[in-house]
Amino acid sequence: MRPQAYTMRRATGGSRTAQMRHDDPVPRQAVKMRQVMIQHPRAIRSFVTRTGRITAAQERALEEFWPHFGVDFSPAPLDLTQLFGRTVPLTVEIGFGNGDNLLALAATHPERSYLGIEVHRPGVGRLMLALHERGLANVRVVRHDAVEVLRHQLAPGAAEEILILFPDPWPKKRHHKRRLLQRDFAELAASRLCSDGVLRLATDWEPYAGQMLEVLEQTAGLRNLSTQGGFVPRPATREPTRFERRGERLGHGVWDLAFQRR
Ligand SMILES: C[S@@+](CC[C@H](N)C(=O)[O-])C[C@H]1O[C@@H](n2cnc3c(N)ncnc32)[C@H](O)[C@@H]1O
Repeated sequence: MRPQAYTMRRATGGSRTAQMRHDDPVPRQAVKMRQVMIQHPRAIRSFVTRTGRITAAQERALEEFWPHFGVDFSPAPLDLTQLFGRTVPLTVEIGFGNGDNLLALAATHPERSYLGIEVHRPGVGRLMLALHERGLANVRVVRHDAVEVLRHQLAPGAAEEILILFPDPWPKKRHHKRRLLQRDFAELAASRLCSDGVLRLATDWEPYAGQMLEVLEQTAGLRNLSTQGGFVPRPATREPTRFERRGERLGHGVWDLAFQRR
């Protein structure tokens, strides 16, 4: 007798229980799913998409100002001269949160261009609203995974500076794989810097600071700007960010790193 793929039993209360025998053929659906997963392994991302609270003003800003400041993700390298209407040094800030630092930098340095990359909608809306209110024209924003943006949309050597401030520390061991600063990402970020370009990071989570230092020390093409080969002083130019202030309230320290492309 041909073995049945599934023996379905309707339990009292309406729930279904599937029982399989060890010699049952693997259901076709499961085989298909496994093939899909092998061909397209699910990426481990450094963020989880939160809906979060968004104000009406931020929602309106996303709609109204996206055509001006927003850049849609596309797997083709950006033409920065066309995007900003000029050729000047570019700073990229990854995971800018609510945009405090990016806004302050853009206002202080109109001679530079800024590209912000963030996945959190309320933060993107908040930044675009502030850019509009302050009349700043030197910032563009991509709302997409920074790993993919750097890999596909930012050409090698395009950035003079890359900032990653207080990235999610993912403190639980089983979540460490989600940390943004891993070997592959460090190599990718280094490749997007121009010669002498600088990658700057800060964190208030000591174990992550140690991981950052170790990974960056081992990244070919980068050299530590710390004279002691460790961390650098906090740059005075950095506007305190929301997560920096939160770390302060919790009594955390802050560790800054700066690595230059050789
Ligand atoms: C801990 S918050 C820090 C925000 C801000 N830099 C600050 O200091 O307040 C980390 C931010 O990075 C963003 N993020 C994490 N992974 C990202 C990725 N792969 N691409 C873009 N944004 C990312 C998150 O949405 C979040 O807003």
